[in-house]
Amino acid sequence: MRVHVLTLVALAGCISAGGQMAAPRPPMGWNSWNHFAEHVTDADVRSAADALVSTGMKDAGYIYVNMDDTWQGKRDSQGVLHPNERFPDMKALGDYVHSKGLKFGIYSSPGAKTCGGYAGSLGHEEQDAKMYAEWGVDYLKYDLCSMQDQMADLREAHPESPMAEYEMMIGAFKKMGDALKATGRPIVYSLCQYGMDEPWRFGPGVGGSMWRTTDDINDTYQRMMTIAYGQAGLGKYAGPGHWNDPDMLEVGNGGMNADEYRTHMSLWAVMGAPLIAGNDLSKMSDVTKSILMNREVIAIDQDALGKGGDRTLQLGDFSVWERPLSGKRLAIALVNVSVSGRDIPVNLAQIGVPKGAKIHDVWGNKELRPVQGVLNERFPGHGVILLIVSE
Ligand code: GLA
Repeated sequence: MRVHVLTLVALAGCISAGGQMAAPRPPMGWNSWNHFAEHVTDADVRSAADALVSTGMKDAGYIYVNMDDTWQGKRDSQGVLHPNERFPDMKALGDYVHSKGLKFGIYSSPGAKTCGGYAGSLGHEEQDAKMYAEWGVDYLKYDLCSMQDQMADLREAHPESPMAEYEMMIGAFKKMGDALKATGRPIVYSLCQYGMDEPWRFGPGVGGSMWRTTDDINDTYQRMMTIAYGQAGLGKYAGPGHWNDPDMLEVGNGGMNADEYRTHMSLWAVMGAPLIAGNDLSKMSDVTKSILMNREVIAIDQDALGKGGDRTLQLGDFSVWERPLSGKRLAIALVNVSVSGRDIPVNLAQIGVPKGAKIHDVWGNKELRPVQGVLNERFPGHGVILLIVSE
């Protein structure tokens, strides 16, 4: 039934008008929502930009500074949307972010209202896209939110035509995708519709650089793992210019312990997910820094091969996640879902590691030596051992 819609939005949209791919690797940066939510101010965004530089996050690859919802004020009689009093001068804010060698991100909705009840872009798509380009925006998160009301109205009016609301949603995302493209500015286009209706299928065709594959994350091990498990089978849809987005990182927000955050970071890297930090960058512990800025984990995420990863084995509460890397290497996350620490003998042949391969333990920063094809390592509760396997 959906084939004709998909044909309409065939794989064409990942390249901007200038011919540049906006997201050849999973985008990396920071977003205001997970920590500041609706309280975010211009000063918070500036200090996040400062902190990205001073903490070394920028050098590690985190370059997007993304304002999430609640920056919007009112539209004037010309339909121009003005920021609210917490954002006195958006162009100046964009300039400030750029002056640090960083990129500037913003947020809107295809609906009349955002999820926070602020003004969305419905009926003003071209106008808003042009304004973003004038402000120097490099990244737009476009969040379905109240567009669901329009979809529900349509469903009620035409119960006989279940495709209509799906087409309405795709049309709305494509409208902004086209408007962004028409600006000629490479802008990462981040679709957010919570993984409903398989956005990995229509995302590239509407110009999406990435698409949320899930409802919102929160700062708990359970929610983070539920999301990770929900990604099964999606690895094949990730690739240069178009990425699955299992939502932003919670690392450093305090709701998980260090082992759990290492699991979170490892799984996002193995899935090739965008790494968008969501913590208060001005107050990062050394442990948080060591997790967010582990160069080898980031290199797995940003690997040049650009393939997605997936869960490949589940044995009780032990699971294995794999991602092929450039140079015939393989990233493997061995995950202990149990709350207790335990010794798990891992049979390497069973997880596809060839005999004689080199096995590097990323978090432990050491080489591992199997005994008769078996790794005997201690796993912390809710912990991970992340490996890079090479010839
Ligand atoms: C939705 C999105 C979140 C965040 C909020 C803002 O819930 O999924 O990531 O952007 O809206 O209102």
